[in-house]
Amino acid sequence: MINDVQKYWNSAPCDIGLSDEPVGSRKYFDDLELAKYRREPHILGFADFQRWCGKDVLEIGIGMGCDTTNFARRGARVTGVDLSTYSLVLAKTRLAAYGYDANLLWADAERLCFYLPERKFDLIYSWGVIHHTPTPKNVFNQLQSYCHKDTELRIMLYAKWSARAIFKLIFNGHGKWWKFHDIIRRHSEFQPDCPVAYYYSFAEAKALLAPYFEITSIRKAGLRGVPAGRLFERLFGSHLLITAKLSSARRNYGGVRVEDVIDSEDIGE
Ligand SMILES: C[S@@+](CC[C@H](N)C(=O)[O-])C[C@H]1O[C@@H](n2cnc3c(N)ncnc32)[C@H](O)[C@@H]1O
Repeated sequence: MINDVQKYWNSAPCDIGLSDEPVGSRKYFDDLELAKYRREPHILGFADFQRWCGKDVLEIGIGMGCDTTNFARRGARVTGVDLSTYSLVLAKTRLAAYGYDANLLWADAERLCFYLPERKFDLIYSWGVIHHTPTPKNVFNQLQSYCHKDTELRIMLYAKWSARAIFKLIFNGHGKWWKFHDIIRRHSEFQPDCPVAYYYSFAEAKALLAPYFEITSIRKAGLRGVPAGRLFERLFGSHLLITAKLSSARRNYGGVRVEDVIDSEDIGE
């Protein structure tokens, strides 16, 4: 399954078609950034790039490195991982085009400790990634060992009860609500048939993180193309914006070592 995920994102790195400029040129990356933040302006407030100046940031699933570049631009020390080799190459090209540097690695986030030696980060950030991996809870299990007691986790997951999901159900799935999960998975991305795309209600997102992290805030945002009021966006936005901290039991234990994660029963499921 993870091979299918890798294959899909190698064939269609996130946002690759948002510019007509030559792929890899600086103008191309400028266009991509403009289009991405125009389409998803809530990233700016959520990532809060300037806040992480001088801090250690781990980004899970960097794609073509748009947010990665902005963390680096604001002075963060960034480590970024992704499963898609093509995306990583483009992310490296992008950082170089602007004269920034980051530690970029190929890694499966579900088995991160095999690729990234244990160290603690101030922020662990992931935008639109963990719902695309076959077993998302493995990622949270792994992330514990990269947290100190004040590490902040900021992640975006797809919201289940959103205008976007309902739209796809009606227009792509002709209202076949009993096939809801399959329809929204197949039509979740620009390129069809994404092999994995989970959608979460508030309760499901809380349950997913609960064994490892305590959620400090969760809200919906993102109504692409809809001139929405704030309330409408909070009710029907397509993204769940989640901030969390290591759960108190795990904090008191003094953080989690990679060895504990490897021994834990969650891995290998
Ligand atoms: C929708 S894109 C988001 C990319 C980026 N965060 C952005 O906002 O442009 C999803 C990315 O997650 C990566 N991904 C999916 N599963 C992964 C895993 N298990 N480990 C690492 N990266 C993964 C894919 O390769 C892809 O680049």
